[in-house]
Amino acid sequence: MNIHKAVPRVYGLLVAQFNTGLPCSISLRLQHNKADVNEHRAKVMARGLPEKKPLPGVKNIILVASGKGGVGKTTTAVNLACAMKVIEPDKEIGLLDADVFGPSVPLMMNISGEPMLNDDNLIEPLLNYGVKCMSMGLLVSGENAVVWRGLMVMQALERLTRGVAWGPLDCLVVDTPPGTGDTHLSLAQNLPIDGAIVVTTPQSAALQVTKRGVNMFEKLKVPIIGLVENMSHAVCFKCGTRNYVFGSETKRTAEQIGLEIIESFEVDSNMSECINSGKPAIYALPDSIHAEKYRQLANKVFKYISDKETDAKATKQ
Ligand SMILES: Nc1ncnc2c1ncn2[C@@H]1O[C@H](COP(=O)(O)OP(=O)(O)O)[C@@H](O)[C@H]1O
Ligand SMILES: [Mg+2]
Repeated sequence: MNIHKAVPRVYGLLVAQFNTGLPCSISLRLQHNKADVNEHRAKVMARGLPEKKPLPGVKNIILVASGKGGVGKTTTAVNLACAMKVIEPDKEIGLLDADVFGPSVPLMMNISGEPMLNDDNLIEPLLNYGVKCMSMGLLVSGENAVVWRGLMVMQALERLTRGVAWGPLDCLVVDTPPGTGDTHLSLAQNLPIDGAIVVTTPQSAALQVTKRGVNMFEKLKVPIIGLVENMSHAVCFKCGTRNYVFGSETKRTAEQIGLEIIESFEVDSNMSECINSGKPAIYALPDSIHAEKYRQLANKVFKYISDKETDAKATKQ
């Protein structure tokens, strides 16, 4: 197959024109101020949600989200995608890093290098641990990514979703940025999302934002699979005592918002060491409690998908 370097052809134009201020459809659109963008968005919302077109060759899409940063979304998304591949090796799994401002999938999946374009002008995802990955971090430098806003983000997401040769995929796991912003709106409006996993930590500040995130998904009609509680507690190395350093409010909040805690992970320095050196716990520490819990989480996601498919078939009949 005739493969070309993707960055100059796909992003060269996008980034160069953005940085130099040369006129192009994207830079012209950026001249709109925030009020224009909000007005436009309100009009679009008022017309109802646009038609969601599936990603060619992708059977299911699962989002990993949370209102706050630093709670472990990317850690969860990376380990979940790898665990899905481990327990169902014949299934094709993808991981999309939709955090265009702070992409960390390349670091955590240990992928680097310029992606290539295929003959259909689609970017070929990079493969590691058997998982097909794509991230803005592979296409532009971090400094460029952080200045992107509004419609520019949507344009970038369009490239990362429909501009990538994802298929065939049984499941695409999407890691999202913190908050309830443009990225979530854009993904939920344009893609048929099968479900979202909401990651939270147990302190009240995080749980408040979690409620906001759950609210947003309900408005966007994205079903929530459940809550993943991360950093639930720390265990003392010496005496084994559990320390609830961040509080223990998750259960109460889950009940209030009517969601199930589908998995709970304690703080573990081995976990963060592994993931930050590009070796997810599921591979680096396969016998650890965390790896076992990620396999259980992966099983729950597969079950959710298969139940959903069964329900959809039953509704059609
Ligand atoms: N259960 C955990 N125990 C210890 N460290 C963790 C745990 N979960 C995540 N981390 C660490 O916390 C940091 C933030 O995690 P990350 O997944 O990047 O969060 P987010 O994507 O929500 O911003 C990372 O350095 C990660 O290694
Ligand atoms: Mg992240």
